[in-house]
Amino acid sequence: MTRPIAPAPAYPPREVPPVDLDAIASVRDFEAPARERIDAAAWAYLVRGSWDERSIAGNERALDAFRLRPRVLRDVSRVTTATTILGRPASMPLGIAPAALHALAHPDAELATVRAAAAEGAIVTVSTVASRSIEDCAAAAPDARRWFQLYVQHDWDVTRSLVERAAAARYEALVVTVDLPVLGYRDELLRHRFDPGPAYANLPLRDTWRAGREIDELVDLRNVPMTWDRLDEIRAWAPLPFVVKGIMTAEDARLAVDHGADAVWVSNHGGRQLDRVDAPIDVLAEVVDAVEGRAEVYVDGGIRRGPDVLIALALGATAVFTARPLLWALACAGEPGVIHALRILEEEIARGLALLGAASPAEVTRDHVRRVRPA
Ligand code: LAC
Repeated sequence: MTRPIAPAPAYPPREVPPVDLDAIASVRDFEAPARERIDAAAWAYLVRGSWDERSIAGNERALDAFRLRPRVLRDVSRVTTATTILGRPASMPLGIAPAALHALAHPDAELATVRAAAAEGAIVTVSTVASRSIEDCAAAAPDARRWFQLYVQHDWDVTRSLVERAAAARYEALVVTVDLPVLGYRDELLRHRFDPGPAYANLPLRDTWRAGREIDELVDLRNVPMTWDRLDEIRAWAPLPFVVKGIMTAEDARLAVDHGADAVWVSNHGGRQLDRVDAPIDVLAEVVDAVEGRAEVYVDGGIRRGPDVLIALALGATAVFTARPLLWALACAGEPGVIHALRILEEEIARGLALLGAASPAEVTRDHVRRVRPA
C-alpha cells in the first residue's frame, strides 16, 4: 500500500528578505542567518548530529592537527582549480555532498542547488531523500555534473527503480551510502518530534509507517540484509561509475575496491551516524594507501575553507565534499546563495593553491602537509 506523495515540507522556511551576499565573505557567514530562516525542527534534522555530537565537533577539530607546508618560488602565475573527477573535468576539487530535504531550507529546494552547481561547474550529489524528484532535478540542470545518492530501500524493486531512473535521467554516477543500516540516534529529532510528513519526492510512502518515524524507516534495512554481495547486484543494474560512500577503514576501502568501486568516499555522515568515530580526515591517508590508486578517494566532514580542502588534497583525496554550508547558503538566498558559496570556496582554493606553491590541484602532494599532533 502506498499513499500519494506531496513534496511539500511540514516546516516551510520562514519568509524573510534574502541576505546581502556582498556581506558574506566566508561560507561560515551563512550559518547564523540560515538559522533565522529555517524552522527549529527542520534545523534539528538538517544540521544537527547523533548522540552527543562528538563526531561533528571532532570533524572540524581534526583538521587542526594538520599544517600545510607551502613551497615558494614555484610558477603559480596561472593557477587553476580545475581538475578531473571520475574522468571528467570539474571546475574545482570540491563538490556538493548529498543532504536530504532541501525544501526545509528553501522553497526552490534541490532545483536551486543543482542549478547553482551547473552554473559553477561543480559536482552535485542529489539524495534519494530529496524534496524534488530525480527527474525534476535533471530537467532543472541537464548540464550539471549530477550524481545520484542511493539509499537501499526495504523494497528491492524500489531500490532498483531508483537506480534505473537515475541512469535514464543521465546522472553520471551512483553514490551508494553504506553507513546507514539504521539512522543514528538523534536526540534532537526526538526532542522536536521531527516529522516532515510525505515530503520525499522519490519514494512511495507506506501506510505502515509510524507518523514521525518516516525518516527513520525510510532508510531502515531490517528486512534487507545489505551486504557486499548486494552491492555487486546494485552495481550490475546500471553502467554508471560506482562510488561507495561512508567508508572509515582501510579494510573496508579495500573491500569496496574489490567489489568494483570506482571511488571510495571517506565519511562519517557529517557526524550523524555512529558517534565517537574517527574524523574522516584522520583516516583519509590510510584509505588512500589501502586503495593503492585503484580508485579515487573522496572525503567530507567539517570542510569549510580553502585550506581545509588543500589538507585533504595533500593527504591524497581526489575530491572533497561538503553539505551544511551549502544548505545554509540555500536557506539564505536560494540559487544565488549557493552560487555565492561555491564561488567563495573556489576563490579560497585558488588563493590557497598559489600560496602553497601548486598551480593546480594535481600538483598538491603529501609533502604539502604534516601532522602536528596525533589524532
Ligand atoms: C540523514 C540521512 C537520511 O543523515 O542522510 O538524515
